[in-house]
Amino acid sequence: MKIKVPNNTAQLGVEISDLNLSGEFSDDQISEIRKSWTDYGVAIFPDQKLTHVNFEKFSLLFGNFGDDPYLKSLDDRPNIVEVKRAANEKAPPFGGSWHSDWSFQKTPPSATLLHSKIVPPHGGDTLFANTQLAYEDLDQETKDKIENLEVIHSAGLPYADDGFYATEKVERAMNILPSKKAKETQLHPLVKTHAETKKKCLFINPVYTVAIDNYSEEESFLLLSSLYEHMTQDKYVYRHKWSKDMLLMWDNRTVVHAADGGYDGYERLMHRITVN
Ligand code: OGA
Ligand code: MN
Repeated sequence: MKIKVPNNTAQLGVEISDLNLSGEFSDDQISEIRKSWTDYGVAIFPDQKLTHVNFEKFSLLFGNFGDDPYLKSLDDRPNIVEVKRAANEKAPPFGGSWHSDWSFQKTPPSATLLHSKIVPPHGGDTLFANTQLAYEDLDQETKDKIENLEVIHSAGLPYADDGFYATEKVERAMNILPSKKAKETQLHPLVKTHAETKKKCLFINPVYTVAIDNYSEEESFLLLSSLYEHMTQDKYVYRHKWSKDMLLMWDNRTVVHAADGGYDGYERLMHRITVN
């Protein structure tokens, strides 16, 4: 197993090669992968052809399957979701705004694994921002101010029956299942300590974070906007370029991510599994 640590200001994206993800792993290898992934937020495994079964088997090394609402899974594989966009599609890319997957859940997924099946010749990058570095760099006054705040998360904005996906006017290849349930809310601390690295991170994102609990609408908007602006500065952002048969595993506890477009006229297809 070869491990190449990132060389970017965001300190994200560790490349792990010289191993076969469809093979067997020793406990030491699993711990080493786990440590690389939590230390660098995004683990990159190039050139890995994976059957559905092997994709599932590899993801299960890191925890049980997550619960993926609002997205239809593959017919015979309830834990694999297709993230796809057709060549002639005019809809903005799925996941196109900064977010952390399913942060509105009571226990959001630790990992998301995304495996590339069809990669457009240009564009289609995924952006990742390091919310742990962003937290670390805040001035002490801001750290003190946000230390004990709780924030309200909800899936309503994208997935409610009057939300973004339900009301968009353009066709989408992806099978999205909006629901009334999406307006349910969940509290999380704004500053979360990572269970494994013990480092603090900003656990907020503009898609699912609705407001700061016990703040006025205006105060909440102002503080959240300034934190979003801070944490998505270029110096915290890693731009991931895909190639075919590449597996990415990111840590939803320490990074937010966004799908970039720029590939109109070409198809893109990924398979996704979340880990509880
Ligand atoms: C996701 C997601 C980004 C992308 O699958 O959760 O945000 O680039 N995908 O497809
Ligand atoms: Mn996502």
